[in-house]
Amino acid sequence: MRHAPIDQSAAWQALANHAEAMRGTHLSDLFADTARGDAFTRRAAGLTLDLSKQRWSAETLERLLDLAREARLPEAIRALLAGERVNISENRPALHTALRLPAEASLVVDGEDLVPGVQATLSRMDEMVTRFHTAQWRGATGRPIRDVVNLGVGGSDLGPLMVTHALADYRLADVHRVDVHFASTMDGSQLAAYLSRFNPETTLFVLSSKSFTTIDTLSNARTARDWLMARLGNQEGVDDALVMRQHFIGVSAKPEKMTEWGIAEANQLEFWEWVGGRYSLWGAIGLPIALVVGMANFRELLAGAHAMDEHFAGAPLADNLPVLLALAGIWNVNFLDIRAHSILPYDGRLEYFAAYLEQLEMESNGKSATHDGRQVNYSTCPVLWGQLGPNAQHAFYQLLHQGTQPVVCDFIAPLRRYDDVEDEATREHLKAQHRLTLANCFAQSRLLMLGDDAIEEAGPRPGHKRYRGNQPSTTLLLDRLTPATLGALVALYEHKVFVQATIWDINSFDQWGVELGKQIAGETERILASHRGHEGMDASTRALVEAVWQAEAVGDD
Ligand code: F6P
Repeated sequence: MRHAPIDQSAAWQALANHAEAMRGTHLSDLFADTARGDAFTRRAAGLTLDLSKQRWSAETLERLLDLAREARLPEAIRALLAGERVNISENRPALHTALRLPAEASLVVDGEDLVPGVQATLSRMDEMVTRFHTAQWRGATGRPIRDVVNLGVGGSDLGPLMVTHALADYRLADVHRVDVHFASTMDGSQLAAYLSRFNPETTLFVLSSKSFTTIDTLSNARTARDWLMARLGNQEGVDDALVMRQHFIGVSAKPEKMTEWGIAEANQLEFWEWVGGRYSLWGAIGLPIALVVGMANFRELLAGAHAMDEHFAGAPLADNLPVLLALAGIWNVNFLDIRAHSILPYDGRLEYFAAYLEQLEMESNGKSATHDGRQVNYSTCPVLWGQLGPNAQHAFYQLLHQGTQPVVCDFIAPLRRYDDVEDEATREHLKAQHRLTLANCFAQSRLLMLGDDAIEEAGPRPGHKRYRGNQPSTTLLLDRLTPATLGALVALYEHKVFVQATIWDINSFDQWGVELGKQIAGETERILASHRGHEGMDASTRALVEAVWQAEAVGDD
């Protein structure tokens, strides 16, 4: 553990002074150096990372690397990957990387090799997936399961949701079709829509919850169980135990809680406390992914992530993609005061990628206490949000181009697409659409960077037409969007988050900031239900509670 706060280090101070000098430099000035594109571009694991449109210079990067060394980043990376207890407040390792180690690897932590357990879970997932794909997983009345609904929230939802959409092209065609759906909202609106459409005889629910205490998920699960029992329980030869056995799978780090809830032991997939919820798509929480793309593609996803892990572990800091991505972020947040970060994929399949990263980055690094409990004097995680880039062009790009907020953007796109479309004419049309999309992606990052200088038109532009430019961005190109490159992309961001946390001296792997809200919600629910006990509340909340009671009274009339 470090002793002096990082912002009092010589490297930080040097960066602060350097930032003063850089502040007046427009991005377009930096591009006077024609070799800049190459100088700030690196490749690994099927990804190309172009950081040349960041508002930094070779000197900036040198100084940021000094900062990383000052924060003992190489030691921190080693500790993470070796399974040391880097999650200090919960006294455990953060070993999502162990979930994607190859079968022949070994990782001994506290005297136990973790790889056999990981592989055993993958084998059990494989068996389950095979049962679905061969129409052998049947509902209580004997009909093959057709719809699988994942009930989970946060890390037990966003990872599988994001990946199943991103890899929709890899859906297995020659197997019994199983459609996968996601219900996460506590108010039941997504679930209600499914229940009104699906046939209970052919619907199965996967209860995904690391803690198995999350009220959002358990409320949905109760509603689903009652729906099944009410519709199937009265059929001949069907009892509750059969419904539970044929219509529920549980995925959790708490097997005893799954059993208590009624999940049959054979239907329980376990994972470990050392896998953080938002880092969990690589194991049993990824079951919905494997149901869509099959285990071979799921293993490709793991292999891609592992390739990024190896790169992270072995590449020099100056060529290390997660390190560079993280340092660009540190530079923006802490030295250029850019505290808004937009994630802009130019590929409809990555529709949920921004939502996924919002949890990964902000739940991991939205912290203000250092490892030893001091409050930080510097900014940590920026506000991160995003949407598909082409759609966002028609929504919030106005602010990026002409608003008053500095924003850094990540543009993400695959270089190739639609090669496999069989019909030639359709293929050519779709490829042209892909080209159009890339053109938009590149045009936007260029315009954000250069402003009015991006066009050759002479003369000053009136204020409302002025583009000042100088908005930094990163461009991330995937050779193609495949299971392997997607795995590498997600692992890249996971490690970026860890690098930033190391420099900020915060713990990425806990989330104490979500606990109190759950507790107060529980108390509020008890007050709402019992119609008593709101006297001690503040005037605003008291009035809101009374409004609910009044609405209920009207409803009861
Ligand atoms: O409330 C936050 C959180 O704990 C996330 O960290 C987690 O991904 C999500 O809730 C769901 O938790 P669980 O998988 O335990 O249901």
